[in-house]
Amino acid sequence: MNIRNLFRKKDIASIVAEFDRSEALHTTGGLVRNLTLRDLTSLGIAAVIGAGIFSTIGNASAAGGPAVSLLFVFTAVACAFSAMCYAQFASTVPVSGSAYTYAYTSFGELIAWIIGWDLLMEYCIGNIAVAISWSDYLTSFLSGFNLNIPLYLTMDYLSASRGHSAVTELLTQGKTLADASPALQDAYRAWQMAPSFGPIRVVADIPALLITILITYLVYVGIKESKRTANLLVLLKLLVILMVIVVGAFYVQPANWSPFAPNGISGVLKGVSAVFFAYIGFDAISTTAEECTNPQRDLPKAMIYALIICTFLYVTITLVLTGMVPYTELGIGDPLAYVFERLNLNVLSGIVAFSAVIAMTSVLLVFQIGQPRIWMTMSRDGLLPRFFSKIHPKYKTPYFATIVSGMVVGIPALFMNLTEVTDLTSIGTLFAFVLVCGGILLIDHDQARPPGTKGFRVPYYNSKFILPLLIITGILLALYFNPVGVKHFFSSSDGTNAGWDVVKHRLPLYGFFIVCLVMTYYAFTKNLSLIPVLGLLTNLYLMTELGITNWSRFLMWLALGLIIYFSYSYRHSKLNYSTTNNNSDSATSAKIS
Ligand code: ALA
Repeated sequence: MNIRNLFRKKDIASIVAEFDRSEALHTTGGLVRNLTLRDLTSLGIAAVIGAGIFSTIGNASAAGGPAVSLLFVFTAVACAFSAMCYAQFASTVPVSGSAYTYAYTSFGELIAWIIGWDLLMEYCIGNIAVAISWSDYLTSFLSGFNLNIPLYLTMDYLSASRGHSAVTELLTQGKTLADASPALQDAYRAWQMAPSFGPIRVVADIPALLITILITYLVYVGIKESKRTANLLVLLKLLVILMVIVVGAFYVQPANWSPFAPNGISGVLKGVSAVFFAYIGFDAISTTAEECTNPQRDLPKAMIYALIICTFLYVTITLVLTGMVPYTELGIGDPLAYVFERLNLNVLSGIVAFSAVIAMTSVLLVFQIGQPRIWMTMSRDGLLPRFFSKIHPKYKTPYFATIVSGMVVGIPALFMNLTEVTDLTSIGTLFAFVLVCGGILLIDHDQARPPGTKGFRVPYYNSKFILPLLIITGILLALYFNPVGVKHFFSSSDGTNAGWDVVKHRLPLYGFFIVCLVMTYYAFTKNLSLIPVLGLLTNLYLMTELGITNWSRFLMWLALGLIIYFSYSYRHSKLNYSTTNNNSDSATSAKIS
């Protein structure tokens, strides 16, 4: 194996030329061009507003208080830096594949594989999380009408089994079922009522599977149908969210906003994963580049529009929520429905629960559109088997990849647990954002744009002096707000030498500081563009907040990907054939001469 081959790159000029050729022939490998700027913005909002704002924001607000609204602003800024980088790539390389294709043109094949593999995890695990949350909201919405699905058919196996063990322990201590939390009581009952085959209990989240099958069917039969459904769902959810904001504003009691950050910065930062999860999705629309009427013009605009609209809604809704009730009450799975229920506005609470189901359906839809298109693009490059890129002759969709995507979401959603999958999605997406920002720094440096290429470019500001200044300011702010944390950066909080148990949790943060130093050096010596540098650093910082357990799981996923790359993809890559042919051509010409 030749190490240089690991970094073989796809050439932007030839991708653009191939794109123009297919444009002239009105064909894009069998896909249909249907998506306009409005559709794309709508798909972006469809993908973004979902389980994050309807569910995980609750725990984030309970930990951080009203100041979580500032975390939404900070995260939006980090996302905006990445959105601009995505936008430049989407405009320069207008083909399906999103960050994977972008990495192929900037970092080369190995990193492209890593990012493609990472995106598959993001879309797949992300949708497992949303399907589970969808099922929770649907079940509680139906129970409002006395339609009760048996508990063991709406819960994952792990939660039921863990809950059963916890309650059994309580009972052996002489306590009663009523002493357990409502969630534990449900888990215990689900386990008790479940039919069993020998030692195996039948506990599975059936609604999560059914919604995944339904969405997979929609995506299978066509992008036009998916687009119409997404547009309708987005309209409905925007109306309901505006209603929550407007009606909720009348019930805000400013006293609830004081203290604004009751648990300090560390309390606010506990919400990083949940808040970031709420923003995931605007990047997914770049996978539809080959189905847009004008990807170079519309994709960048759509991403930025979607991000601006969602940020406005998120910040406003967090302020309204934490203003309506004390933040301590928000640590629940359905905070938006809860605040109205608490004010005895039960009809509004029902409407919110219903709209949560709608919102999550649209998120599922967009991610299920995105995932097969990543499989497809990687397969067209030879990194995955050919059947992943087969297009249905009638529906014009990548049908095989669509079915696989449905299976890898639907089946695990039967059994998996919500919190763990949310965290894994956030770390995977942040990693993709970091690489996309890094990719822009590389292509701007390495490759001149093909002549005549129009489209969006990240505005250039020289980071030479601004970056060091910003880093010094960051350190001063950390010293001011968290002097104890800074003082004990390399030691335990009692001042003794930190053992491995303490140090291992700080490894991501130490890594972040090393990257900061390296980027400052390059910013100073190479006049790097400020926006991608800030995107890279802010997203990397958010990654450091996600804990060592998530990092380990994420690294295990990447290791599995590397095994597949070296055992299959490296040899089957189309670039491998062209390298081999070029080599044998040059060997032949050498012999002739
Ligand atoms: N941003 C999406 C959601 O919150 C993933 O459901």
